[in-house]
Amino acid sequence: MSSKLLTKAVVRGLILVQFVLLSHTVAFNGTHNKVAIDATTTPATVWKRTPIEYDRDLVIELIEAADYPIEKHVLTTSDGYILKLHRIPDPMQFPSAEQGTNTKDTDDPDEQLRFGPMKTFRGTVLLVPGLFSTAVDFVVTGPENGLAFVLADAGYDVWLANVRGSRFSRKNVKMNVADSEFWDFSFHEIGTIDLPAIIDYIVRETNAPKIFYVGHNQGMTDLFVLLSSKPRYNRKIHHAIGLASIAYLGTTENRVVRRAAEMTDKLYGTLRALNIHELKPSPDIVRLLSGVVCASDMNELCGEMLRGFLGMTVDRSRTLLPNIVDDLLTSVSTRQLIHFGQLMQTKKFQQFDYRNYAINTQKYGQAKPPEYNLTRVRLPVSLFHGVNDFITSTKDAVRLKDELKNVKNFLEIPDMNHIGFVYADRLYARVNRKIIEIFNENPLA
Ligand SMILES: *[C@@H]1O[C@H](CO)[C@@H](O)[C@H](O)[C@H]1NC(C)=O
Ligand SMILES: *[C@@H]1O[C@H](CO)[C@@H](O)[C@H](O)[C@H]1NC(C)=O
Repeated sequence: MSSKLLTKAVVRGLILVQFVLLSHTVAFNGTHNKVAIDATTTPATVWKRTPIEYDRDLVIELIEAADYPIEKHVLTTSDGYILKLHRIPDPMQFPSAEQGTNTKDTDDPDEQLRFGPMKTFRGTVLLVPGLFSTAVDFVVTGPENGLAFVLADAGYDVWLANVRGSRFSRKNVKMNVADSEFWDFSFHEIGTIDLPAIIDYIVRETNAPKIFYVGHNQGMTDLFVLLSSKPRYNRKIHHAIGLASIAYLGTTENRVVRRAAEMTDKLYGTLRALNIHELKPSPDIVRLLSGVVCASDMNELCGEMLRGFLGMTVDRSRTLLPNIVDDLLTSVSTRQLIHFGQLMQTKKFQQFDYRNYAINTQKYGQAKPPEYNLTRVRLPVSLFHGVNDFITSTKDAVRLKDELKNVKNFLEIPDMNHIGFVYADRLYARVNRKIIEIFNENPLA
C-alpha cells in the first residue's frame, strides 16, 4: 500500500468510526434544533473548550460537589481486568443534611416518593451505563435529576459500574492498555465476566439477598448476555429496569445509523489492518472528522450530525458542567462496536461473528455465531423506550418486549431519544421518578 493510499484509508476509517460514534452521541430530532447552523459555523467554533484530563474522576467530583457520600471500590475479574465501582452508600448510614430538611414535609406525596419516609432502607441497586459511557451518566444531570442521587434520596444503596476499557477500568493484572489483547473483548465478555464479578462483589459487600438493576443501552445488553449464558444470576436480581435497552437492532430509519451499520465489515477490516483496537472519542478526531466530512460530498450528513450534536451540547451547557464528548465519553474496543454493527446487519441478538469459518467453528462449534437465548431471562423486567430513539426503533423495542418472559412494564417516553435517558432535561420528572415508583412498588421482602 502506498503511503497516499494508506493515508486515505486512515482518514476514511476515522470518518467511518466517527459516524458510528456520533450516531450514538448525537441527539437527532429532525429539524427541530435550538441552534441554527449555517455555512459560517466551523468545527473550531464548536469545540473550543479545553477538555478535562482523561483520567480525572468526574464521578467522585460530581458526587462530592452535591454533598453526597461517595465510596470507591476496586475489583479484579477472573481474566485480570481491574474495574472501579462508585457507590453512594446506604443513606441510613449517612443521612445528609438536605435529606433531613426535606423529610419534614411528609404530607406531600411527591416528597414522600423521593425522600420519605425517613430512614427507610429499600435495597441495593446497581446502575450500569451504556456504550461509550461510565458511571458519570448517572450523576451528570445533578442532584435534582441524576438517577444515582434520586435513588439515594429514596432510600437505596447505589452502586455504579464501570466496565472494562472505560475511563475508570483501564488496567489489567497481566496486560497493558496499549496491548491489542487488552482490547480483545466485546459486550459478550462484559456480560459474562465483568457483570457477574460486579454483582458478586456487591452481594458480598452488602449481604443483599438480591439487588435491583438499571441498565442504559449496553448496560442491558450486558444483562441479557449474562442471564442467557449464566441463568443462575436471575436469582440475584430482584427487578431490572432497561433504558433504551439494546438486544435487537437493525430496523431504525436513521440514515446515519443505517449507513454505519452497512459499513461494519469494511470498517472492521480497515481498523484491523491499521492495528486499531481501541476507539477513543477524542476531540481531535471529532475535529478532524468534521473538517473532513463537511468538506466532502457528505455535506448533508455532516450538517445533520453537527446540528444534532450542537443542539445537545449548547442546550446543556448552562446547566451541565462537563462537555459530553470531551469529558464524558470513554473508549470502547473495536470488536465491541463492530459487534453492535453486526446486530444491526443481521437483526439477530447473537455472539460475535468472526466472519471466518475456522475461527467461528473453533470458538462456537458451529459456523454461525450462536444467538443469545432470551427465554432464559426470567427476572422481572421493566422497559423504557424513547419514542424518538434513533438507534433502537420502536419495532426493535417491541420485539424485545415480546420475547422476554417476564416484562412488568413497557413505557414509551414521548420526546425521548436514545441518550436522552442520561442527558435530557427534567430527567427526574420524565423518567427517574417512574424508576423509583416501579422499584418501590416491587419491594424486596
Ligand atoms: C433456550 O433456553 C430454554 C430454557 O433454558 C430452552 O428450553 C430452549 O431449548 C433454548 N433454546 C435454544 C434455541 O437453545
Ligand atoms: C422534537 O421535535 C418536535 C418537533 O419536530 C418537538 O415537538 C419536540 O419537542 C422535539 N423534542 C425534543 C426532545 O427536542
